[in-house]
Amino acid sequence: MIQIAILGFGVVGSGTAEVLTENKAIIERKVGQPFDIKYILDLRDFPDSPFADKVIHDFNIIVNDPEVSLVAEMMGGSHPAYDFTKACLEAGKSVVTSNKEVVANFGTELLGLAKTHGVSYEFEASVGGGIPIIRPMNQDLSSNNITAVNGILNGTTNYILTKMETEGTPFAEVLKDAQKKGYAEANPTADVEGLDAARKIVILAAMAFGKRIDPNTIPCEGITKITVEDMETARELGYAIKLIGHTEKRDGKILCMVSPRLVSQYTPLSGVSDVFNGILVDADMVGQVMFYGPGAGKLPTASAVVADMIDIMEHTPANIKAPVWADATAEDIMDFSTYACKNLVVLDAPLSAADTLASAFGAVRFCGRDGRLAMITAELTEATMTERLTKVDAAYPIITRIRLL
Ligand code: HSE
Repeated sequence: MIQIAILGFGVVGSGTAEVLTENKAIIERKVGQPFDIKYILDLRDFPDSPFADKVIHDFNIIVNDPEVSLVAEMMGGSHPAYDFTKACLEAGKSVVTSNKEVVANFGTELLGLAKTHGVSYEFEASVGGGIPIIRPMNQDLSSNNITAVNGILNGTTNYILTKMETEGTPFAEVLKDAQKKGYAEANPTADVEGLDAARKIVILAAMAFGKRIDPNTIPCEGITKITVEDMETARELGYAIKLIGHTEKRDGKILCMVSPRLVSQYTPLSGVSDVFNGILVDADMVGQVMFYGPGAGKLPTASAVVADMIDIMEHTPANIKAPVWADATAEDIMDFSTYACKNLVVLDAPLSAADTLASAFGAVRFCGRDGRLAMITAELTEATMTERLTKVDAAYPIITRIRLL
C-alpha cells in the first residue's frame, strides 16, 4: 500500500484528491498496487469535505511518518513550500508539485537532492496546467537538440487579451471581470506583469538546455500597457497580440524573456484563446511541435499532478529518468542587447514621416490611423532599437512598441 500526503488543500490540492478518488480503480490498475491518501496538510479545517478526517496542521507528522512515500506539494509560494519539499526529499519521500515558483527558483537543488536520496521530484503541472509538456520534453523529444521554445504560458493574461481583442473592452475592465470569474487572483500582479510566465519559461529553458536561469533576472514585460487600439493596429497588419514566453539558444548562449508579441494570424499560437495555453518547441530532428490545452484550472492541473504521482508509484523507489539541471552562470546567458527581432512601433507622426522612419528603422510596412503612424521595422537588435527610438522620440513621440514573434 502506497501512502500519500497532500500539502495544501486549495484549488489544485482538492482537485488532486478528487482525481485520486474518482479514478482510483484506473490508477491502481496502472500502478499495480493500492494507494491511500493518509494526510492532507493545510492551515484550515474542512469540516464539510469528504476528506475532513485526513486534514492535519503539523507538517512534522508527515515528514516523520515512514509509511508516507509520496508527497504532492500544492501550497503555492516559495516558503514554506520549498522547505517542506526539501525536508521530504531528504527523508526519502518523492515529491510532485504544481508550484512553478519553487521549481523555477530551486529546481536545480531539489532535483539534485532527489537524485542523492534515490527518490523523484516531478513537476509536470508547473507549466501549462493540464498540457503534457515537461515529460514530452524530457522523454519524447530527448533525441533532439532543442533550439527554441515559444509559449502562451499564462491563462489569465490570455483570457484578458482575448476579451480585449474580441469585445474591444479595455484592460482594466476585463481584469475586473476576470477577477470576478475567479480566473485572475485578487492580487493579479504575477500574472499581468509576466512573472508567472517568466517562471514557466525558465522551467522550459532548463528542460531544453539543462540550465536554470533565475526567473527574477530575465527581461520581463507584462500586458498592463497593451491597449485596444494596439490590438486594432495589430489586426490591421495581420497579427494578434499575445503574451509570449520565449527561450532560445544561440552560439552557446541562452535567452529567456517574456513580453507581449505580435503573432501572425497565419501561425497556430494566434489561435490560442481564453484560458488556454499553447507551446511551440523547435527541435532539430522533429521540427516544430505544438502543445495545446487548458493551461490552468482545478482538474486539468490536478490531472498533471496525478500523472506524475502515477509515474512515481509505478517506479518506486527508483529515481526515474530525471532531468539534469545546473544553475546558469553569467557565461551561459545571452546579452539581451544583441537579441534581434522585428517590431511594431506606433508613433505620433503624419504619414509624410514614413520615408524618414523607413530609413531609420528599415521599416517595410506602414499603416496610418487617427493621426498616428504604425510601422513594422526590419529585424533590429535591442541595442539598435533603443538608440533609434530615443532619437526619433523628440520629433515623433513613441506611443507603442511591441516585438514580433
Ligand atoms: N495564474 C496561472 C495562469 C495559473 O493564469 O496561468 C496556472 O499556472
